Amino acid sequence: MSTTSRILNKALQDRIMSAEQAATLIHSGAHVGMSGFTGSGYPKSVPQALAKHIAASNSEGQKFKISVWTGASTAPELDGALAEADGVEMRLPYQSDPICRKRINAGQMEYLDIHLSHVAQFVWFGFLGKLDMAVVEVAGILEDGRLIPSSSVGNNKTWLDQADKVILEVNSWQSPRLEGMHDIYYGTALPPHRQPIPLVHPDDRIGDPYLHCDPDKIIAIVETNAPDRNSPFSPPDLNSQLIAGHILEFFEHEVKKGRLPKNLLPLQSGVGNIANAVMAGLNTGPFDNLTAYTEVLQDGMLDMLRSGKLSMASATAFSLSDAGLEEFSKNIEYYRDKIVLRPQEISNHPEIIRRLGVIAMNGIIEADIYGNVNSTHVMGSSIMNGIGGSGDFARNAYISIFMTPSQAKNGQISSIVPMASHVDHTEHDVQVLVTEQGLADLRGLSPNQRAKVIIENCAHPDFKPALLDYHKRAHEQSYGKHTPHILEEALSWHQRFLAKGHM
Ligand code: COA
Repeated sequence: MSTTSRILNKALQDRIMSAEQAATLIHSGAHVGMSGFTGSGYPKSVPQALAKHIAASNSEGQKFKISVWTGASTAPELDGALAEADGVEMRLPYQSDPICRKRINAGQMEYLDIHLSHVAQFVWFGFLGKLDMAVVEVAGILEDGRLIPSSSVGNNKTWLDQADKVILEVNSWQSPRLEGMHDIYYGTALPPHRQPIPLVHPDDRIGDPYLHCDPDKIIAIVETNAPDRNSPFSPPDLNSQLIAGHILEFFEHEVKKGRLPKNLLPLQSGVGNIANAVMAGLNTGPFDNLTAYTEVLQDGMLDMLRSGKLSMASATAFSLSDAGLEEFSKNIEYYRDKIVLRPQEISNHPEIIRRLGVIAMNGIIEADIYGNVNSTHVMGSSIMNGIGGSGDFARNAYISIFMTPSQAKNGQISSIVPMASHVDHTEHDVQVLVTEQGLADLRGLSPNQRAKVIIENCAHPDFKPALLDYHKRAHEQSYGKHTPHILEEALSWHQRFLAKGHM
């Protein structure tokens, strides 16, 4: 199929231009909403052309910067290129790019880390200012102008609705068979006119398979043929397998107790290798006819769909390895009716997560002995990625599970600490904590009871004595005994590692 045959609307064909021409239509200071979620469906060529344009302008003494809003993380061609050119004033709501991260942590780029379900409504409310431009990748344009979404949906509906002007990238690398897999809900209204969202099962379709956009706003169309990022997953290591084993045992226990049905409840699984390993564990585990109501669909879930363990998955984006993508593309007819891709304000919507009773499983940097969780910051000050959707799911889940190896940096750092150096998920949103050492079921426990279970079940033996000693002395010396702390010591715990140069 030639690239132009993806643009069936005749009136729009005269807006086709090069990425370089399109990039010159974006002005310095613009708020730009770009597609892209966990390395899929991001624009592949306009951001790179824009980065070159910015670098050239800045070398002539200008201060050309834009604000970049996305669904979530993108790829080197977007985040990496624009950060390298020093072209980003403000980045939101999530990133995982090494160059971006470096600039943010050096204080050279502003970054606003927001719950992913909040982004669309914050834009509608006007909380983030006017959206000047949308740059959105699609898989094709129909004769009547409707847009076939690509491998992620993210905030694209909102960008196309809210932006003054729109640049589309039509990527012929994206499979034309994606058509029909998406479910774009157009029923959201602003308070006080909001209505319940009519989604009561994870596989309900409540919207339209296509994105809509006022054709008069489309000022450029760029044709591309370039792959998504498709990062590889490492095979599950021993720690990940142990974590997965503890979670499976916990599920079996909950089923026996009658607190979970035999096919569990819809699963949400976070990003990264541990999450992928838990899916691998479930794939060989005793549960059948599972469902997923999640944010990203990684290889682990694809394997489960293939094996039949998972009957369907709802997400907002794919995040596959090359091998995962090959499998998906080869057998797309098999997967098409088992996967629904939705806007992120729906995939991560608190109302739906609470209604469905989603089981949330997310990775963390560290947790403290009372169950407060840090998902984002090293040493309380240096951002890793962002909160992503973990808060949307954790706060509203049926059971919220957080998981991490008990140690980081080759055993130099304990992931269980006296006091989290930054808190993303408070003790109130953390029901279960798991490391390779074991699982702490925190439901119904007071802070002191939680501390005992977390240290006993989750801490690494190398750090357990120091944590037990801290908790004991805190209990003796603390101003209050409800959540005992020795404040100067709690913080110096982290400082010690900085002094040793481990960070
Ligand atoms: N102290 C210092 N550094 C730590 C640490 C700790 N306690 N724990 C982890 N790290 C470092 C690791 O060393 C690694 O650094 P490196 O890249 O320099 O090697 C990095 O953090 C990532 O850790 P890793 O062990 O590879 O874990 P991961 O891939 O499972 O990622 C998070 C863990 C927390 C970074 C990741 O889950 C995340 O970004 N979560 C927040 C968003 C989220 O939950 N999204 C899903 C919602 S749907």
